Amino acid sequence: MARDELLDPAPLGDDEDTAAIEPDPDGSADADPLLSLRPGRLSEFVGQPELKARLSVILEAARRRQQAADHFLFAGPPGLGKTSLAGIVAAEMEVELQITSGPALERPGDLAAILTKLSAGDVLFIDEIHRLSRSVEEVLYPAMEDYQLDIVLGKGPAARSIRLELPRFCLVGATTRTGLVTGPLRDRFGLVARLDYYEPEDLQTIVLRAAGILGADISSQGAAEIAGRSRGTPRIANRLLRRVRDVAEVNGDGSIDHDMACVGLELFGIDEKGLDKVDRSILGAICEGFGGGPVGLSTLAIAVSEPTETVEDVYEPYLIQQGLLQRTPRGRVATPAAWRHLGLIPPASAFPAGDPSLFE
Ligand SMILES: Nc1ncnc2c1ncn2[C@@H]1O[C@H](COP(=O)(O)OP(=O)(O)OP(=O)(O)O)[C@@H](O)[C@H]1O
Ligand SMILES: [Mg+2]
Repeated sequence: MARDELLDPAPLGDDEDTAAIEPDPDGSADADPLLSLRPGRLSEFVGQPELKARLSVILEAARRRQQAADHFLFAGPPGLGKTSLAGIVAAEMEVELQITSGPALERPGDLAAILTKLSAGDVLFIDEIHRLSRSVEEVLYPAMEDYQLDIVLGKGPAARSIRLELPRFCLVGATTRTGLVTGPLRDRFGLVARLDYYEPEDLQTIVLRAAGILGADISSQGAAEIAGRSRGTPRIANRLLRRVRDVAEVNGDGSIDHDMACVGLELFGIDEKGLDKVDRSILGAICEGFGGGPVGLSTLAIAVSEPTETVEDVYEPYLIQQGLLQRTPRGRVATPAAWRHLGLIPPASAFPAGDPSLFE
């Protein structure tokens, strides 16, 4: 206990920063905690075949050696399953999962308090790991590599450094920004995996699975339509399914066929490419407000009244992947496809070589 006090200037409440995994923090007010759509085991995790194959080998090997698994870093846009994978690693290893996040660990003592409470084999999940402060990150290095914790007691000339042994634990980090994870931190992970946007068939499977859990009656064409407009993202697929289910229950007999899916998606402003109001206003701002660009990110964010990071992390990746937006050194540029998607005629300046015929 004395050790805890030394380490722990301001103990983190167990249920505050290291709470149990939320059943389904998808932002849906109507989420029933009993009906979690989060895959609990690797076998329920749809898609990402290479990642699953690698993960299952590493976990199986660790199980056979009866050791904690190596550290994992999952990177990729929001809603692709990083948090779910952290839960899966713990479930497959049959160990406890402790959850915290980069911004919650303000001082080295915050991290030390969590690390010293871990039991052998436990999984520590640090979400938004790119937001760890430098000083906290430095505590993490020896903890990850040698399972040791260096702490400095006291200040000035009286300061002493002591070293504590930690149990072997498995760190799972998640980040939406691989570029912001420092090299030394990235190098200490045994597996750095990038999650890709999901294929429409995988999303269809996810929608059908979620409909099964929610008890919604949906046809495979209805599921395909929702999947196709989900921007390659399981979280969005599940959210759209819930909204379409609402529409089907209020305006129909509750069953979701292809037509009902289209009506529901339209009602919530999701177009055929899966773009929502904000996506379209980003493209609209570039095309109509700034003549197609280039326009700086912060100007663009102000034009659509969204935080810069949200535009950069949430909206842009999909628009870029769809070939509607380009990032250039001088700013964001709308592609000819973006103009057409908005029902506008792309000006000659929208074509990189200034020659539209190259793109016909
Ligand atoms: N492979 C998958 N199979 C089935 N469902 C999935 C899969 N990946 C994600 N989901 C669903 O999407 C939801 C969001 O996933 P999760 O919270 O793991 O994403 P995330 O990558 O951690 O997002 P964020 O970066 O916003 O924290 C989950 O609750 C789950 O319902
Ligand atoms: Mg998450």
